[in-house]
Amino acid sequence: MIGIFDSGSGGMSVFKEIVRLLPEEKYVYFSDNAHCPYGEKTAAYIQDRARHIAALLIGKGCRIIVVACNTATAAAIRTLREEFPETPFIGMEPAVKPAALGTKTGVIGVLATAGTLKGSKYLNTRGLYQDDVRIVEHVGEGFVELVEKGIFSGPEAEETVGKSLRPLLEEGADTIVLGCTHYPFLRDTIQSIAGDDVRIIDPAPAVARQTRKIMIERELCDPSGYGIEILSSGDPASVSRIYDLVKPEP
Ligand code: DGL
Repeated sequence: MIGIFDSGSGGMSVFKEIVRLLPEEKYVYFSDNAHCPYGEKTAAYIQDRARHIAALLIGKGCRIIVVACNTATAAAIRTLREEFPETPFIGMEPAVKPAALGTKTGVIGVLATAGTLKGSKYLNTRGLYQDDVRIVEHVGEGFVELVEKGIFSGPEAEETVGKSLRPLLEEGADTIVLGCTHYPFLRDTIQSIAGDDVRIIDPAPAVARQTRKIMIERELCDPSGYGIEILSSGDPASVSRIYDLVKPEP
């Protein structure tokens, strides 16, 4: 059984890619929406939440856990690996490398939460590429709240997305890295504001491939038929609404 968690429904963008590769597995998804957003919380707060959620998922029989949240990966994946050494944890990687390799203007834009942008994982990755390309960043202010409300397009989404995206475009970014798992649900709005020449990179497919690789290596696969249990610490409406958008065809 595969456990997946996020501060809310954003991790469903990662689940969508994992289930494509592993359609016969059983899943437990935990949305910590009573504590969402994580973006401005302290690392200690997020570590406490991650510890609690991991224990719950392991108690339900999950043998691998995908931290489908960039902010929780930045704050807590090391703690989780230390405290639950038997369980492999897959985290989110900021997709700076493919962006740096593909940019033509030499400027890449990263949209993420404040917690992700100041985390050492992101800063280390950034350090590897900042001599070759210019990396400009912006917090996707209000993006998580939009997605949790189920608003992906229309005037409110355009106004909110535009405020954080335009500064990156004005700097000349031709590639935008989605550094938060909620943001892929706003992809069409981001693309319509940025224009068709701007490339948007979502790391979820790479994270899904890594999940499958580790499951094969550790012999954790159990393709006994698809099933999912969805849990949330708050109102379940938001996560079930998003699950309806990403769930596999029967
Ligand atoms: N989905 C999240 C991430 O990838 C969480 C955002 C938040 O709760 O602020 O960072």
